[in-house]
Amino acid sequence: MIHAILDMGMAKKMSEAKQEIPFWLKDNFAPVFEETSTTELKVVGQIPRELNGRLLRNGANPKSGWSDHWFLGDGMLHGVEIRDGNANWYKNRYVKTPMFLDPNSDVMSSLGDMSRSTANTHVIHHAGKIMALEEGHWPFIIDDQLETIGPNNYEGKLKGSMTAHPKICPETGELLAFGYSMTPPYLTYLRISASGKLVQIEPISVKGATMIHDFNVTRDHVIFMDLPAVWNLEGMAETGLPVLWDESYGARLGVMPRDGGDQDITWYEIDPCYVFHPLNSYEDGEKIIIDVCRMDDTMKPGSSSPPLLFRWVIDRSKGTVTETQLDDRMADFPRVCDSKVGLKHQYGYCAAFAPSKPFADGFLKYDLEKNNSAFHNLRGGQGSEPVFVKNPEDELEDSGWILSYVFRPETETSEIVILNAQEFEEEPVARIQLPVRVPAGFHGNWVPDGY
Ligand SMILES: [Fe+2]
Repeated sequence: MIHAILDMGMAKKMSEAKQEIPFWLKDNFAPVFEETSTTELKVVGQIPRELNGRLLRNGANPKSGWSDHWFLGDGMLHGVEIRDGNANWYKNRYVKTPMFLDPNSDVMSSLGDMSRSTANTHVIHHAGKIMALEEGHWPFIIDDQLETIGPNNYEGKLKGSMTAHPKICPETGELLAFGYSMTPPYLTYLRISASGKLVQIEPISVKGATMIHDFNVTRDHVIFMDLPAVWNLEGMAETGLPVLWDESYGARLGVMPRDGGDQDITWYEIDPCYVFHPLNSYEDGEKIIIDVCRMDDTMKPGSSSPPLLFRWVIDRSKGTVTETQLDDRMADFPRVCDSKVGLKHQYGYCAAFAPSKPFADGFLKYDLEKNNSAFHNLRGGQGSEPVFVKNPEDELEDSGWILSYVFRPETETSEIVILNAQEFEEEPVARIQLPVRVPAGFHGNWVPDGY
């Protein structure tokens, strides 16, 4: 039945698209349709015994076989449980939201109904809940076996959407977030306590409705990125999303105290650009340092601007922002140690994209104090976001492991690669080989036992 739907949908869309299959529907981006549970996992090497939990990853996996944009497919979670040096199971499950369960779902039907999430972008844990996130809707709670429990609207207080990239403060345990909307208020700040209560909802004044994928936090501030990817229904025909690049909108960074409001924001003009993902940000006296994967533009028909690592320095005493390119390699899906979120970091990890390819052929480890980097070559493998998991028994910031789902084209199966982050260019310490393919996706996290 699924394949019949796939065939019909694909046939229709392929004729519309002159037989062109976009990158997000072919090769390892092609969706899988089977929900698998297996304990048949082969481990090469030795899984560190300090790793006890599960590596979860989310991604767009359209149940119909077709989506008009990479971002629009139904969410599918992949997970592997690791304990005592063993890999216990692999599972994949669709996130069963009303959007998924509706046989006639499309992107326009999801606008404005906060329960109609694809829940396809990220998966986090906070206040004892694992949540699948997508930026236009409510979070969806799942259990540690990847089964969907239901939406989390924070006891009815969350009326609008919540970003897929909230930040957990390592010092207070708060979840700092925002939501954006096509209608006023276009941007809303959200602060959630360590116990999972939505304690602050703050409308933020911006000129118009834009796509705001992520933001930044420091010990004392949040920093919004008000960038010119502007909501425009005409974008559906051009980009597959109701968003278009419009440089006339301008570009600004808004610095606000974490418990402040609209009246407390200072805005700083910057050159037009787009940032899907910051690496991290922190305060240094009157300065705020923000490392970002910066693109010259996005949602601009005919343009494909690569993400490159940049550093913004906001000097609050001078009212200026300086911008410095740190690397010329295409890098995105940045991560830092969770205990450094909002605090000064020395190290950052990115997926390094192969030239002219939509997948990572390796990982980068940046040492931002020594201004150097290391490259881990996946030797033909196609990597996803490198998740850093701290070794709880060592203080050093980079003492831990990089975990990532990697596709191996030669076997058309996937594996989890585990690198020693301090021996970054060396062979993985372990590879957990899965009997199935995990399609290229978006973001994920390590969820430790006892979360
Ligand atoms: Fe993202």
